[in-house]
Amino acid sequence: MTGQALLREKVYDPILRLLHAWNGLAILLLVFTSQAAEALEFTPEAASLWRLHVWTGYALVLGLVGRLAWGLNGPWYARLSAMWHWRAWLTALRTRRLFTAPRGFGHHPLASAAYLGFYLVVLVMALTGLALAAIDQGRGPLYPWLGHAITLKHLFSEPHEILEKFVWAFILLHIAALILHEARHGVPLAQAMVSGYQYRKEEEE
Ligand code: HEM
Ligand code: HEM
Repeated sequence: MTGQALLREKVYDPILRLLHAWNGLAILLLVFTSQAAEALEFTPEAASLWRLHVWTGYALVLGLVGRLAWGLNGPWYARLSAMWHWRAWLTALRTRRLFTAPRGFGHHPLASAAYLGFYLVVLVMALTGLALAAIDQGRGPLYPWLGHAITLKHLFSEPHEILEKFVWAFILLHIAALILHEARHGVPLAQAMVSGYQYRKEEEE
């Protein structure tokens, strides 16, 4: 057997992995329920799916609050500050080398930028979604302010609908990047959010 030795380190803690699975599943269910409800148009089944969409939305809001709390107080690799790599982002833009091999442990600096951008998109989805829940369904924490305020609906439904495309794009990009990195750079990556272990090739001197 030939090949370079791999270094292994426990990087992602169980809470971070649980939050990743929780938020990922909630987002998939939100995408599924909205697509299915739109396809069913004005049927009772569609109305039930929209209610399920909102309940799943609450689950996502909980998961996002959890991620924020863990990002401020959790261990090093879960911290939001560990995702901030502006020097690496500038260098990548200047040199146009975006798809580089993962080095060091923790998130790839450019993947971190995508994650932060994605969290911002999802945050806006959650806020506009809570507003739509109050307007369309007369429920949720924003009801006292926005309950059935139908004239304001477009203010929230337009960004909600546009940003949905970004959610799709992120999911496809995320899965494709994990597969491509594994194929091109020869390290197991996707399993890290399940096992917690990251693998890296030993640096050659
Ligand atoms: C809809 C599905 C998914 C969404 C929305 C999603 C979202 C995310 C986000 C936001 C992060 C950043 C984690 C953080 O908060 O620190 C992340 C990281 C990660 N995800 Fe996913 N994810 C999804 C599915 C998956 C799947 C199916 C796998 C494979 C098992 C996976 C593997 C990973 C790994 C390994 C990382 C860390 C990569 C790195 O070190 O940079 N994800 N994902
Ligand atoms: C990543 C997350 C989400 C995705 C991909 C998503 C997707 C969609 C889509 C495609 C629509 C139909 C277009 C529109 O009317 O604007 C929609 C509507 C809606 N969404 Fe979301 N959504 C997400 C998160 C949320 C959250 C967190 C909530 C609330 C807690 C929410 C509540 C709603 C409501 C109330 C509607 C209008 C439903 C109706 O017509 O009765 N969404 N969503």
